[in-house]
Amino acid sequence: MADTFDLVVIGSGPGGYVGAIRAAQLGLKTAVVEKDPTFGGTCLNVGCIPSKALLDSSEHFAAAHHELAAHGVLTKNIELDLATMLKRKDKVVLDNTNGIAFLFKKNKITTFQGRGRLKSTNEVEVTRADGSKEIVQTRNVMLATGSVANELPFMRFDGRTVISSTEALTLSAVPKKMVVIGAGAIGLELGSVWMRLGADVTVIEFAGKIAGPMDAGLSDRLLRILQKQGMKFILGAKTTGAEVKKSIAVVQFETVKDGAKNSIEADVVLVAVGRKPYSEGLGLEELGIAKDPRGFVLVNEHYQVMTATNRPPSYPSIFAIGDLIPGPMLAHKAEEGVAAAEIMAGHNGHVNYETVPGVIYTWPEFAAVGLTEEQLKEKNINYKVGTFPFSANGRARAAMQTDGMVKVLADSKSDRILGVHIVGPRASDLIHEAVAIMEFKGSAEDMARSFHAHPTFSEALREAALGVDSRTRQM
Ligand code: NAI
Repeated sequence: MADTFDLVVIGSGPGGYVGAIRAAQLGLKTAVVEKDPTFGGTCLNVGCIPSKALLDSSEHFAAAHHELAAHGVLTKNIELDLATMLKRKDKVVLDNTNGIAFLFKKNKITTFQGRGRLKSTNEVEVTRADGSKEIVQTRNVMLATGSVANELPFMRFDGRTVISSTEALTLSAVPKKMVVIGAGAIGLELGSVWMRLGADVTVIEFAGKIAGPMDAGLSDRLLRILQKQGMKFILGAKTTGAEVKKSIAVVQFETVKDGAKNSIEADVVLVAVGRKPYSEGLGLEELGIAKDPRGFVLVNEHYQVMTATNRPPSYPSIFAIGDLIPGPMLAHKAEEGVAAAEIMAGHNGHVNYETVPGVIYTWPEFAAVGLTEEQLKEKNINYKVGTFPFSANGRARAAMQTDGMVKVLADSKSDRILGVHIVGPRASDLIHEAVAIMEFKGSAEDMARSFHAHPTFSEALREAALGVDSRTRQM
């Protein structure tokens, strides 16, 4: 008789693997089913990790061109060896995916390679690449299959000229002209990579601003910084089609305001218009598991999937987490896997959605946690603002990284921090001070009175927090 597991996790991305490890730590007999040859899902294989590897490499290349001379470091004949850059990125990915395999072994997690599908509430069918099948018995299942890139119906991916973020990580030559559709995280990050390496990049965005729902004032600041770096933007414009002839795409778009039609040529078009939950072939329909109109799997407060018929209202043994369920589609939000594992082991798993940070890894970076000014106004919450520019921060000046600013938003009455927004050097690391303070429901005064080593970028946060009480020491 085959083993019965306490938990089978379908998908080994940042939600699935942390969930599986937590379950194993709590003594559950755990297995993971992964369809791809390596673990780690989109994030490790074709998302967060390779894009950051290329962002870091391309930052060095751009610095060699534009910054080193001012530091007195003279370089001659700077050349791009793209093949080496891509190889290094692949090695970074491999080290990370191998790391997950190691962690699975260390935590005695059984792995199945193949496509997982719910056969019943307590059975997962695994279909291997050769078509052979195996049924795995389990007390609980965690669905952690993540998401896939949205495709525009009038501009299908061809993998060469019209591409998704996956192919944008492996271009074998720098495009002369690249058009990016969508000024969200992917468009701005991968647009930055190829712009720094020499491509003429134009971003077409439907909204009137970049960076999606991020704070409008700081989004505008980042827009101007990226424009200064050479990125072009067509905002308030909707792409309507693309014609590819002899590897050149003509992208048609029209302005949202007046419908005026226009077009632009590119040798590569990166479509980055969001992602959708990946739930095909999981057997959800057969079990009557409920999805919202956008395809997100609906769960209760314990991450147990809801049923479409309400009879029973939810399946207690089937959990879903991460990009598959509603909420921000971010790798770290998928830590829900940990909460779900704790809940199924009888503990109190919990996720505080008020403190999920968001980061766009341009340079300077854009990081935020909590509410924006726009959201505070919408909710009729009275707030105070403190800001501080990096141009007035000693460490930023020493590093020649003075673009950007910090904005701290605090409740007018209680001084509790409601949101922190940073465009600036290493904003991705700086934001976590704000996350920690908000987790403990701290105030702007708490942030202002805490020590910040001098001289550090982090002092900009302290000064912005002092600014909430009109006490910045700005020159
Ligand atoms: P996104 O949802 O962040 O941005 C897509 C943008 O495309 C939106 O601004 C939208 O207005 C625009 N758009 C949609 N249709 C359009 C059209 N026809 N013409 C012009 N513009 C159009 O999606 P993105 O950047 O593809 O990222 C996908 C997901 O992955 C997001 O949820 C994102 O948060 C996540 N992600 C997060 C990263 C990070 O945390 N650093 C990095 C990469 C992705």
